[in-house]
Amino acid sequence: MAFPQSRPRRLRSHPRLRDLVRETSLSVNDFIYPLFIHHGANLRREVSSMPGVFQLSLDRLGDAMAEVAELRIPAVILFAIPEHKDGTGSGASRDDGLIQQATRLIKQNWPDLLVITDVCFCEYTDHGHCGPLHEVGDRLDVDNDATLPLLAHQAVSHARAGADLVAPSGMMDGMVGAIRAGLDGAGFSNIPILSYAAKFSSAYYGPFRDAAQSAPSFGDRRSYQMDPANGDEAIREVEIDLAEGADMVMVKPALAYMDIIWRVKETFHVPTAAYNVSGEYAMVKAASANGWIDERRVVLETLLGFKRAGADMILTYHALDAARWLRS
Ligand code: PBG
Ligand code: ZN
Repeated sequence: MAFPQSRPRRLRSHPRLRDLVRETSLSVNDFIYPLFIHHGANLRREVSSMPGVFQLSLDRLGDAMAEVAELRIPAVILFAIPEHKDGTGSGASRDDGLIQQATRLIKQNWPDLLVITDVCFCEYTDHGHCGPLHEVGDRLDVDNDATLPLLAHQAVSHARAGADLVAPSGMMDGMVGAIRAGLDGAGFSNIPILSYAAKFSSAYYGPFRDAAQSAPSFGDRRSYQMDPANGDEAIREVEIDLAEGADMVMVKPALAYMDIIWRVKETFHVPTAAYNVSGEYAMVKAASANGWIDERRVVLETLLGFKRAGADMILTYHALDAARWLRS
C-alpha cells in the first residue's frame, strides 16, 4: 500500500482532530490494584523499594479500600504476609487466613468491587517456593503434582470467602484444570479463573518479594517460571491454560514482554491482562524522585502502551495515581 499524497501531520494539527483519530484509550476501568495484607494489627508499613505501596493489617485495610472505591477502580488483587509459614504452605487455605478474612471484609463493605485472589504458596511456605518440595536427583524442586490438589483447595477456600475471581500464579502444569475442577465440584462453577499463563522468571519481581516477604530461601524459580528468551513457549502456555478452562490470561512482567502481550491477544482473542510488576514500578518511582522523568506522563504513556499492545486490563501499583490523573 502506497499513499504518495499522504501527509500524516494533517491529522495532528488540532487537539479535537487528535481526539477523533486516537486508536487506543486508557481508563480507570482497565485497572486492577494489588494490595498486601500483613498479619497483626495497626500496621501500615511502606515498602522501601516501592514508595507509595504499603503492607496493611486487616484493621487498616478500610482506608485503602475507601480510596479504591472512591476512585472507581473496579478490582483489587490480594497478597498475604502471614505470620506462620511451613513446608507445604498450609496457612493458605484456612478459612480464618488473611486472604479469606480480607476478602470477607471487602465484600461486606464494598460489594460492588471485585476481589481477585492470588492463588499460590510462595507467601506461605517457609522455603518461599510456590509449592511443596521433593527431591529430584541431588536437588530439591517444587512437586508439581502434589501442588495441584493444594491449589484447588486454596482456590475453593478463597471462593468460599467471597472472591469474585481466582488468579493462580505458580506456573504449575495443570494448575488451571485442577482449580477449575475443584471450584466446579464445590459449587463455584460461576467463578472465573484469571491465569498467570505466561509468567517469566524475572528480575523485575525483586521489590515484590520485599513487599510479600516471599523470596525463595534457596535457588530460584527457573524450574517453573518461564525463560525470558521464549515467545513461542508463551503461546503454548496460554493455549494449555485456555484448554484447561482459563477465562482470562495474564502476561507478566509487562514492559519487557510487550511482544508477548501482542502475540497472545492476536492469537487467542481472549481477555488478556498485563502485570506491570514491582520492578517496573520501582524504576519509575526512583527516576521521578530524582527529577529525571515526569512521573505522570511516563506512567500514563506506559499504561497506554500496554493497552496498545493488546492488554484489556492492567495490574498496576500506579492504579491510584493513574486513576486520579485520568480524572483531572
Ligand atoms: C508469586 C508472585 C510474584 C508476583 C506476583 N505473585 C512473584 C514471584 O514469582 O516471586 C510478582 C509481582 C510483582 O513483582 O509485582 N507467585
Ligand atoms: Zn508463588
